[in-house]
Amino acid sequence: MTGARQHLDRLWRQGRDFLGSELAILGGAMSWISDRHLVAAISNGGGFGVLACGSMPSDRLAEEIAATQERTVRPFGVNLITLHPELDALIDVCGELGVGHVVLAGGLPSSAAIKRAKDTGAKVMCFAPALAIAKKLARAGADALVVEGTEAGGHIGPVATGVLAQEILPEMGRQMPVFVAGGIGRGEAMLSYLEMGAAGVQLGTRFVCARECIAHPNFKQAFIRAAARDAVPSVQVDPAFPVIPVRALANQATRRFIEFQHEVIARFRDGTITQRDAQLEIEHFWAGALKRAVIDGDVENGSVMAGQSVGLVKSEQATAEILVELVEQAVAMLAGRETRQPAVN
Ligand SMILES: Cc1cc2nc3c(=O)[nH]c(=O)nc-3n(C[C@H](O)[C@H](O)[C@H](O)COP(=O)(O)O)c2cc1C
Repeated sequence: MTGARQHLDRLWRQGRDFLGSELAILGGAMSWISDRHLVAAISNGGGFGVLACGSMPSDRLAEEIAATQERTVRPFGVNLITLHPELDALIDVCGELGVGHVVLAGGLPSSAAIKRAKDTGAKVMCFAPALAIAKKLARAGADALVVEGTEAGGHIGPVATGVLAQEILPEMGRQMPVFVAGGIGRGEAMLSYLEMGAAGVQLGTRFVCARECIAHPNFKQAFIRAAARDAVPSVQVDPAFPVIPVRALANQATRRFIEFQHEVIARFRDGTITQRDAQLEIEHFWAGALKRAVIDGDVENGSVMAGQSVGLVKSEQATAEILVELVEQAVAMLAGRETRQPAVN
């Protein structure tokens, strides 16, 4: 087994060196979920926790970073949404508090934002949804990339993780650390991406039912009950009214959203409201919905964002146990191969 563990450590050495953690496993930032408790637990367990800033103002972010620093001496990162109106101030807060890694998410970051974050001394990670964008981000100064496929929970792109990994890893994996995310629930899958050239992996869904995670018990129960097929992308009913694709568990809210779009679009068609107002109403439907599910526990009327790997979440577990399990599964896979007899023709 030790040979297999050494093999794993060689495979993700680049990721471990980049993150400064024992395991190259990022706990992907999840708004309302990835707070001081979960982030510190992931980093203390040897992984790399990432705080979700979401829509927090800069003083709240500062408070959360400081509270996380009180709970762990290990490195962790901060995820900032590029569309946040106070992005520059948030980057500065990360700099003032000595955050080592800033993840710029939720849209293509500007070169200026990447530079500002790098100027604080932080390493900057960005999401690359296609090879052309990966190259652009590398030119703009990103230090590492996250490649996230459509199996993931939350906001998603259209392409599967396995396809994006094949598109981006062979070319970018040699130049810079590339972390693969979306649909990873077990160590064997993690290993397969490392063998394809990933520096490490990022998991979100798998950490929601961590004991240290503050999500409401109803939210965790919904994860434990759900099958992979229950985590579905948001439905858009009319090409003229775009809907931001989000993967979440099907519930009353996802069903109501379809009816709601039809009602709003009918009001536009009969001239009651303008197209712009109709679009705004559709966008507004989900305002506050993630908090409603995660914090208030209303898993029928809120948004239960979850990836397809939700089908692999079977119980509440300590964060450290989840991390150990992922490593053990990868190591067992490697060890099994080492002891297997060579095939005879
Ligand atoms: C409930 C939930 C909330 C999320 N919120 C964010 C977010 O605020 N910012 C972000 O960059 N990614 C967010 N994500 C994506 C995760 O960081 C991570 O990349 C993703 O969960 C990985 O795929 P997986 O769910 O298949 O493990 C969220 C995911 C979930 C499930």
